[in-house]
Amino acid sequence: MDPVKNFSPRIERFPGSEAAKMAHCHRIRRVVFCDEQGVAADLEWDDQDPVSTHYLLYLNDAPVATARTRPYKPGEAKIERVAALKPARGQGLGRLLMERVLADLKSSSATEAVLNAQTAVRDFYTRLGFVPVGPDFIEADIPHVHMRLKL
Ligand SMILES: CC(C)(COP(=O)(O)OP(=O)(O)OC[C@H]1O[C@@H](n2cnc3c(N)ncnc32)[C@H](O)[C@@H]1OP(=O)(O)O)[C@@H](O)C(=O)NCCC(=O)NCCS
Repeated sequence: MDPVKNFSPRIERFPGSEAAKMAHCHRIRRVVFCDEQGVAADLEWDDQDPVSTHYLLYLNDAPVATARTRPYKPGEAKIERVAALKPARGQGLGRLLMERVLADLKSSSATEAVLNAQTAVRDFYTRLGFVPVGPDFIEADIPHVHMRLKL
């Protein structure tokens, strides 16, 4: 049996103006990126939240994973800040969230999804169909690789 089905995951999509939901996104991002990975606060809290579309995945009504997308270069949507709280990982929830994000992007005007993946989770994205493009590089002191997916 699919273990995810036992936990009733639910996904919401909303704009950056929804303050109460954004507080949940920020908490998850603070725990995962700042506390766990040591990303500097001034890099994590950029000026793109207001112009992004945000996602929250709830497990039994508790927000446990998030992501955001925003228009990037012409025809491109950029996916960023993909994070699941540690106890929620390894159950297919990150995949579920990304599948929802990609389904929404497919029905948008974007023709390509792009992201900068931490190299440690490159295979999480290749399993979703993303292809690495170009050499690895350092962003926020963490090795990354640019990845792209035709929608
Ligand atoms: C990356 C992250 C969102 C994945 O979420 P998750 O819920 O654990 O992933 P899932 O359980 O849905 O895994 C989906 C697939 O990706 C694979 N996968 C997940 N994490 C992986 C990793 N670190 N390395 C390689 N493969 C991974 C799983 O094995 C699974 O493969 P399958 O579909 O063939 O079974 C989560 O590990 C996380 O928040 N990490 C810390 C923050 C981070 O690094 N974010 C990415 C920034 S670019």
